Amino acid sequence: MRYFLLFLWCLVIVLMSGTSHAITLDSCGISCHRALKRVRLSHQPVVEMKCLDCHRQAGNHPLGGKTSMELVEKEPSLCFRCHNRFPQKKTVHSPVKDGTCTACHNPHGAEGKFLIDADNGQTRFCTKCHDAKMFSRKNVHPPVAEGKCTVCHDPHQADFKGLLREGMPGLCAECHPDVMKNLKNALTVEI
Ligand code: HEC
Ligand code: HEC
Ligand code: HEC
Ligand code: HEC
Ligand code: HEC
Ligand code: HEC
Repeated sequence: MRYFLLFLWCLVIVLMSGTSHAITLDSCGISCHRALKRVRLSHQPVVEMKCLDCHRQAGNHPLGGKTSMELVEKEPSLCFRCHNRFPQKKTVHSPVKDGTCTACHNPHGAEGKFLIDADNGQTRFCTKCHDAKMFSRKNVHPPVAEGKCTVCHDPHQADFKGLLREGMPGLCAECHPDVMKNLKNALTVEI
């Protein structure tokens, strides 16, 4: 019943908005798609109600159903309308290579920063696609246990093997400066 009333309300708004049934900027989120904004952190164009920067009318919406709206462009080009293209690096994370930005980012908003549903640790987020067993052994490196995956890995692409932000041993030295100092001072190093 609630949804039916909501639908009627949308219909009234659309009918009132002119003979061409054009969608007005304000009508989408305020009346029919309020749920989209019920997340902790919304994407800036959603905050600004710029729905039509990404969506356009393809038919008589909402009477025409789902196919009456379409994306103005496919991702990733859709995203690169407003965001800089990533500089090309040696290793590209497979879902980024496929151009599926929305495999990780919710285009409207999410519970965590960066439009992803991961705030207290990224482990659950990354293990949507990766084997969780790797991160639940008896002794887990503290930054891994805390789910700080992107401290070491770039989620999009990197110049180092394994999507690492830094090469070895520089990556380790960022948090273990003493060990590295000792290595430098040592006459011989056993590897
Ligand atoms: C930055 C681009 C962008 C903006 C801005 C945007 N959307 Fe979307 N929207 C998308 C993409 C991409 C999808 C497809 C999602 C998918 O396939 O996972 C989508 C899907 C949808 C859907 C289909 C159902 C769903 O939730 O997936 C609705 C409804 C929708 N958007 C409404 C809106 C409304 C209303 C606004 C403005 C408040 C808006 N969108 C703003 C990109 C955007
Ligand atoms: C209409 C312009 C527009 C489009 C299209 C758009 N964005 Fe955004 N996006 C913004 C703005 C503005 C911000 C806030 C300022 C910023 O951080 O750059 C933002 C912020 C973000 C952030 C958070 C950045 C941060 O530092 O917190 C992510 C992640 C993001 N967008 C991903 C995407 C993805 C993925 C797509 C494609 C599905 C997309 N955006 C499409 C305008 C856009
Ligand atoms: C495998 C998951 C994944 C995919 C796929 C992905 N991202 Fe991200 N993205 C992230 C994560 C995680 C962050 C947060 C970075 C951090 O923690 O430092 C992020 C951050 C961002 C940011 C804000 C910070 C920055 O690095 O500029 C933007 C903008 C962004 N992504 C856009 C995109 C676009 C555009 C695509 C598609 C070409 C994409 N992302 C694909 C996981 C992903
Ligand atoms: C949408 C699915 C998806 C998500 C989410 C995802 N990945 Fe991946 N990732 C893949 C795929 C597919 C591959 C390539 C196959 C493989 O190596 O398992 C990959 C490969 C990798 C690799 C190996 C790259 C190489 O070239 O050796 C690393 C490291 C990695 N991902 C880290 C992460 C981290 C960290 C996160 C969370 C921030 C994450 N992934 C989230 C799908 C995903
Ligand atoms: C302290 C740095 C660090 C942190 C934090 C970290 N990793 Fe890694 N990760 C590495 C290194 C180093 C490798 C090996 C890279 C190589 O040589 O290919 C690796 C490899 C991987 C691989 C590829 C493994 C394989 O067998 O091919 C995946 C996937 C991965 N990490 C995901 C994650 C996820 C998810 C998290 C967060 C729970 C995480 N990592 C946190 C340093 C880190
Ligand atoms: C984001 C910070 C961070 C990075 C990057 C990092 N570590 Fe750690 N590591 C820690 C913390 C915190 C501990 C626990 C406290 C300690 O032992 O210093 C730890 C502990 C360790 C331990 C166990 C020490 C012990 O006494 O039990 C080893 C071994 C180790 N790290 C190796 C590495 C290697 C190898 C790298 C590079 C691939 C690396 N770490 C990168 C933060 C980091």
